[in-house]
Amino acid sequence: MTFLSTPVKTAIDELSSQLDTPFFVYDLDTLNAHLARLVTQTQVKLWYAVKANPLSKVIQSLDSAGFNFDVASKGELEQVLAQGINSERVLNTGPAKSPKQIKHFIERGVRIFVAESLNQVRWLNEQASLLNCQLQVLLRVQLRWPEGEKNPLGGDSLTPFGLGCDEWQALNTRDYPTLNFDGLHIFQWGNMLSSDKLAELWSQMIAPLTQLADDLGINLKVLDLGGGLGIPYTLDAPTLSWDTLIDALAKIKRDAGVDELWMELGRYAVGECGHYATPVVESKLNYGQQQVILSGGINHLLRPAVTSQDFPVRLLRESNATTQAMSLYGPLCTALDCLGEHHLPKDLNEHDWLVFSQCGAYGFTESMPYFLCHELAAEYTLQNGQLTCVRQAEDASYYLR
Ligand SMILES: Cc1ncc(COP(=O)(O)O)c(C=O)c1O
Repeated sequence: MTFLSTPVKTAIDELSSQLDTPFFVYDLDTLNAHLARLVTQTQVKLWYAVKANPLSKVIQSLDSAGFNFDVASKGELEQVLAQGINSERVLNTGPAKSPKQIKHFIERGVRIFVAESLNQVRWLNEQASLLNCQLQVLLRVQLRWPEGEKNPLGGDSLTPFGLGCDEWQALNTRDYPTLNFDGLHIFQWGNMLSSDKLAELWSQMIAPLTQLADDLGINLKVLDLGGGLGIPYTLDAPTLSWDTLIDALAKIKRDAGVDELWMELGRYAVGECGHYATPVVESKLNYGQQQVILSGGINHLLRPAVTSQDFPVRLLRESNATTQAMSLYGPLCTALDCLGEHHLPKDLNEHDWLVFSQCGAYGFTESMPYFLCHELAAEYTLQNGQLTCVRQAEDASYYLR
């Protein structure tokens, strides 16, 4: 994993000389090259999980690469449609689909839904009947095993995503004439970095899922495995091999006997294209801890606080100074606002900028920008050497009422 390519470093150098507040830069050349590689295979139909990064330019790159779109809210749907993407290429997942939202989605032309509860099935059928259309529906399944039994999912906690096989048994598919039950959806783990482990997890799914499909009289045409493909956040973490994954997916597809395998990728699709740069406010020694206070923290990059996993970081300027462990803190009045402990050059000072990498997914929109009323981060794209400001930094008067 290299943190900064020369074009990205040059772009961040330029921006940091002009700006005094944090910003994101998305390297669309790197993104496009990566996406082009993901689509050169025929085993899996790829959707983009828009939640990872709903920025217009990012969506446009995925569109150009031929991805379809998985949206989880009205906001995500409208953002995808605003990029000129046809609603036939949109899939709706998510545990909070109200009848009102379903109606809106159908009116906007969406016809593919992942149902996460018996109520959602009923509401999908009601709204499709009212609007006189036919929907393609996958049922989201959540698997669990008895405590203590050896299996890789045994430790997973109960979530509201989908229903267990027992709960789905209550479904009589014949009661819903407007719904074509074409398959099942399953996704219970995130940021996996081992293709062997993923292959093992997926293969464990097949027996219970094909059994459920049989029980419900569903002809399993589609199996949607969600996301979960990881990217490394530390130098020593492994990187997934796409070719190895595709081989594993081909086997799953054969073993499950499905016509189509789907995945909605978020992190693996866009995570590596994003960088976040922030000024250093000051560095101080406190009870023996070298503390670096940054202009931006979890108000712009929440993920370390909710996952305990830091983004990799480097000093923007070149330095030959020896490194030392430093704890990086943001500007919020909570100890949660910590971006981790990192080894950085000892000469780091208040004139410096730090650059966090692997921030293309679950960055800007996953964060808590309003707390303490600091500036919103700016967002830039870099393509063919051209920097474009997609969102300028805004101070709090932009959103305070
Ligand atoms: C239903 C669904 N699919 C796909 C994804 C994307 O996951 P990832 O970023 O691990 O690829 C998510 C993320 O939360 C999700 O909820």
